[in-house]
Amino acid sequence: MTKNNNNNNNNEEEEFVSFGHNLNTKIRFEDADEDEAAQGSAEAATAQDESMCDAADGTTEMADDTTSADYYFDSYSHFGIHEEMLKDVVRTKTYQNVIYQNKFLIKDKVVLDVGAGTGILSLFCAKAGAKHVYAVECSQMADMAKEIVKANGFSDVITVLKGKIEEIELPTPKVDVIISEWMGYFLLFENMLDSVLYARNKWLVDGGIVLPDKASLFLTAIEDSEYKEDKIEFWNSVYGFDMSCIKKKAMMEPLVDTVDQKQIVTDSRLLKTMDISKMSSGDASFTAPFKIVAQRNDYIHALVAYFDVSFTMCHKLLGFSTGPKSRATHWKQTVMYLEDVLTICEGETITGSMSVSYNKKNPRDVDIKLSYSLDGQHSKVSRTQHYKMR
Ligand SMILES: C[S@@+](CC[C@H](N)C(=O)[O-])C[C@H]1O[C@@H](n2cnc3c(N)ncnc32)[C@H](O)[C@@H]1O
Repeated sequence: MTKNNNNNNNNEEEEFVSFGHNLNTKIRFEDADEDEAAQGSAEAATAQDESMCDAADGTTEMADDTTSADYYFDSYSHFGIHEEMLKDVVRTKTYQNVIYQNKFLIKDKVVLDVGAGTGILSLFCAKAGAKHVYAVECSQMADMAKEIVKANGFSDVITVLKGKIEEIELPTPKVDVIISEWMGYFLLFENMLDSVLYARNKWLVDGGIVLPDKASLFLTAIEDSEYKEDKIEFWNSVYGFDMSCIKKKAMMEPLVDTVDQKQIVTDSRLLKTMDISKMSSGDASFTAPFKIVAQRNDYIHALVAYFDVSFTMCHKLLGFSTGPKSRATHWKQTVMYLEDVLTICEGETITGSMSVSYNKKNPRDVDIKLSYSLDGQHSKVSRTQHYKMR
């Protein structure tokens, strides 16, 4: 595993993530202990929403006395995460190209930007000639977005609405275009897709478009002995003490990191494509079979998931991949370590299935069930493992 070798993350993110319990993922929420977790899903969901969005009684100004603890609960209110996203040029430039090179999609249209953050996508749309843009943002960053819109002279075209998309009143009955950057790690972590689908069902005019409209999840396998040793086996003996109970937990948490393409041992398989313009919320939970074929003799320590998104309504197809063979993005890849080390020969296949669903207690978390089998010359393995993105 190559840690952040060629991506555009900065130290700020490393500092930022240290507020969380789980260093594996971007947006972290407080770990509910067993008792709290037992209080039921509705309460947990509300707590999760509040951790991502501004509290219902949130102030309209960005308070100067905000502490790191506040940022922990309201991570998108801190500019650092927006800096990281804006500096992810694969991400931001793709949206810019989609809008500027396909003005026919935006010009004279009413646009809804779901989760506007700093307002960058709204500004692109306004510059491309949108009739009006509604920029909805639930965190305190909405106040900054208002200032940014004003400073750039777009106050008459962009209306920033502070609040959750599920709770705001939109001052128009319908919109022609919904744009959003909703993708989380492993595509689905954070569960913001549901908010986009909610907006689509409520406000998108018949024949309206959603940008992006396609998202696909892929799976491949890697050799990763060094990093597995460092992150997983490490717990077997820590300064001579057995901490292997933590190893079990570490195995269950997929690691978000940049994979060096030299580590890839098999081909890649498409697990699932989602059509954002048509799918229902339930389609984000699925079971997909897979079959990946070794391209050389090697050892396999982990399966790796990544996603692509595309904007098929463009004049020429535009999109980007977060795969290990593409330019790195802040989403990196999602690595799931295997209990077994698979000794695989060129041409042998790993077959199995992956089930993905939102966690019932904590709907922004993602549960993954991975079943895999290898009936090879040197390894005969059949196993099911469970992971949780949190
Ligand atoms: C991944 S960021 C993208 C920000 C911006 N669109 C960009 O491209 O830089 C997602 C934003 O959506 C906001 N958000 C998440 N869920 C939301 C909801 N239900 N309603 C309104 N905003 C939401 C978050 O606070 C965050 O600022």
